[in-house]
Amino acid sequence: SVSINDSIDLSRHNTMALACVADTVVTLTTEAQLDTFMAKYADSAKQKKPLFVLSGGSNVLLPAQLQAVVLQPKMRGINLVTKTDSYVDIEVMAGENWHDLVVYTVNQGWYGLENLALIPGLTGAAPVQNIGAYGVQLEDCLQYVRAYHLPTKTWHHLTAADCQFGYRDSIFKRAPNTWLISCVGFRLHTNAKKILASYGDVQTVAERYAEQHGRKQAIPDDVMQAIIDIRQQKLPDPKQLANCGSFFQNPIIPQDQFTTLQATYPAIVGYPMPDAMIKVAAGWLIEQAGLKGHGIAPILTHQQQALVLTNHTPYQATQEDVANAQQHIVNVVYEKFAIQLSREPVWVNSDGSIGHHEYVV
Ligand code: EPU
Repeated sequence: SVSINDSIDLSRHNTMALACVADTVVTLTTEAQLDTFMAKYADSAKQKKPLFVLSGGSNVLLPAQLQAVVLQPKMRGINLVTKTDSYVDIEVMAGENWHDLVVYTVNQGWYGLENLALIPGLTGAAPVQNIGAYGVQLEDCLQYVRAYHLPTKTWHHLTAADCQFGYRDSIFKRAPNTWLISCVGFRLHTNAKKILASYGDVQTVAERYAEQHGRKQAIPDDVMQAIIDIRQQKLPDPKQLANCGSFFQNPIIPQDQFTTLQATYPAIVGYPMPDAMIKVAAGWLIEQAGLKGHGIAPILTHQQQALVLTNHTPYQATQEDVANAQQHIVNVVYEKFAIQLSREPVWVNSDGSIGHHEYVV
């Protein structure tokens, strides 16, 4: 039977550790439980409340009172579907821990996810923001998503194209509270030569690991270890210091504007994008604006990575505290560089709807 509980404290279920109490939480360990719940839900007193899907809580900013029915997908399982000489197809249930999945696949000799090591959260949430790091995005390995369409109470098989992936974006993110992802299909390669380690210092660190193991060339296992090292140095572990990863997106600006900025700030960090656009490192902008380690207490940027906001009074700080710090950082960066930063994590309103709580400078 489905587990349904009222008045649940979610402050330990969001990695930013914001104070949050939800009206109702429904825990789902099988897909059938969702069908059961949705069939009953149509006739229950709870039906007047909106539905909200909460996965690992690592990319959300929750309100103090969440007056919604929270659905928590916790289905588990990793299934090998197909194995050929060059690849495997696997199907992973939404409740599997993402990093554990990455380590498991690399240990099996199934490659493709290694650059996405140590990203917090659960597998079911990974497609929502098309998680990406060190030159790889989820969409590179994803084949399909099985998801429940809440408005019509129907199950769907979405191909990678159906998911409409973009930079930290997908159909799931653009149509919030519409889909509940239950399962993700991946195609991973069994050829260890297929690695991507060209990003920043990943190559150097991976080669050092290879050498330690008497290998002439880095294999994906070395890349994974390098990325774990690099992330541990720069990014705070949410278990030790509450945070929700990068708080802002890296802004994409016209080449002309970038060239003008370069004249004043020769060290500005940017990566070329299609259509004469440049993706600027927001962490660099925030640091140069003098905000590394600063913000508005208790929400401060991280000492080792200014793009990450951290919560220094876990389980007490609220969404409003985050809004104040966000406003301050957006203002200061805009004054200095005339670039407006956009928030990356999802802002959840009290009624479970997704807010567009962007400040305009
Ligand atoms: N930088 C600074 N100061 C800072 C932070 C960064 O000068 O405080 C500079 C770095 O020196 C580097 C550049 O900015 O030259 C980029 O920094 P980094 O490689 O750390 O990556 P990022 O652009 O800040 C993005 C993703 C991360 C992802 C890393 C690695 C976004 C919004 N963030 O960060 O994703 O792990 O690249 O690929 O795209 C996340 O989304 O939660 C996340 C952590």
